This record gives sequence, structure tokens and C-alpha cells, in this order.
Amino acid sequence: MSGRTKYTDDYSRIAIPEMFFEEAEKFEETMLYNRSAIKEIQTKLEILNEELSLRTKRNPIESITSRLKAPESIIGKLRRNGLPITVEAMEEHLNDVAGVRVICSFIEDIYSVADMLIKQNDINLLTRKDYIQNPKDNGYRSLHLIVEVPIFLSDKSLYRRVEVQIRTIAMDFWASLEHQVKYKKGIPDADRIVEELADCASIIAATDKKMLDIYHKIMTMQERI
Ligand code: GTP
Ligand code: MG
Repeated sequence: MSGRTKYTDDYSRIAIPEMFFEEAEKFEETMLYNRSAIKEIQTKLEILNEELSLRTKRNPIESITSRLKAPESIIGKLRRNGLPITVEAMEEHLNDVAGVRVICSFIEDIYSVADMLIKQNDINLLTRKDYIQNPKDNGYRSLHLIVEVPIFLSDKSLYRRVEVQIRTIAMDFWASLEHQVKYKKGIPDADRIVEELADCASIIAATDKKMLDIYHKIMTMQERI
């Protein structure tokens, strides 16, 4: 079992699920738009990171990964929400078909990267959920944005939604393990593990804060030299 979540850049060939057969062309088209939206966001973030690393001599973004929601997961989510298995329902109601995950070094990088992205003229922010200021009960922390980005095609341009999750390396490490626990059925002593994970989340949050304080101290010292 790998220690990291399966958030992968490899979405080369996706089989069209049976449920979407009648709308195969439409399904492929919408997945193309979603892939394009991911690329647009990913490029914007890479450019920001390059520019900032030139100016500040360090990379605020450690890594960027992305994933296109698997067709089975799309169908599962539509079902869970009592929605019809149609491309229209998927386009209207699912915000996370296109997903980009940004891993930052320090907590303050999360907010500056988010602000710089949102400030861009062609980006529309739809929702912002701050699970760092307001962690989930299980201890989950991350900043979630749903943004709209334009994609340019041969004869038109249109907006597509992308879910952007921004977190520190430590928060990502925690979320990966928690994700594995959540989706493993029949783990013995599951309640105890949930408790232990919640403890780890607090320790990680305190460590993230301390690391930022130390970083600030180092920067102030460097300025004095
Ligand atoms: P979903 O229907 O799960 O997408 O949730 P939502 O629409 O209420 O959105 P939310 O912002 O809460 O969560 C979106 C995504 O964040 C999820 O699909 C996960 O990838 C991630 N996430 C949210 N909560 C947790 C959590 O408790 N643990 C982990 N590991 N990931 C989480
Ligand atoms: Mg989701």
C-alpha cells in the first residue's frame, strides 16, 4: 500500500462507462473540456511558482498534481445525490470532475497562492472552504476552492469548474493516511484509529505553525546580516 493518495496525472485513456453509452460523444467532449480546464489551472500555478521562486529564491509550491474524476466515481456521486446519470447532471452538479491539488511548504504559502490565483482576471471564484481555519471534526485541514476557468476551442470559448485543494506537505501526508482508513472496511479498532488520527492532525497543525515561525525568524536574521 502506498503512503500517498492516488491523485494521478495519468488520465490518458478512460473507458466510457456503459451508463453513458447513449451520450458517448457528449461524455468524451465534456471530459476533454475538464482535462483542458485542469491544464489551464496547472499552468497558471506553475507560472506563479516560477515567478515567485525567481523573486524569493524559494518555491512556495512543492508540487502540483491533478486528476480527472474516474467515470465510476462520477456515476457513484450522481447516484448518491439522487441525480440522473447524464452528462447534463454531471456538468451542472459536480464541481470536482476536474481536480488540482497543490502542496505548499508553509501555511502562509497556501493563502498567497490561493489569492494570486483568484486575483487573475479570467478566474471566477465560486466557493472557498477554509478547512485550515475551520478543520473538520476528524482533523482534516486544507483550503478548497472551486474556480471557473475559460478554455479556448476552435470555434468557441467556455468556462469549466475546477476543484483546487491547497495544503501543506504535512496536511497531505495526514489526508493520504486518513483517506486509506476511510475507505478500508472492517478495520479492527477503527474508533481508536480515528482518535489517533485526530491527535496526529493537531500535532501536525502545531508543527506546521512552528515551522512557519522558525522560517520567519530565519528570514528576519538574514535581513539583519
Ligand atoms: P465531496 O462530495 O466528497 O466532494 O465533498 P464536498 O462537496 O462537501 O466538498 P469538500 O470540500 O468537503 O470535499 C472535497 C474533497 O476534499 C473530497 O472529495 C476529498 O478529496 C477532500 N476531503 C474532504 N474531506 C476530507 C477528509 O475528511 N479526509 C480526506 N482525506 N479528504 C477529504
Ligand atoms: Mg470530491
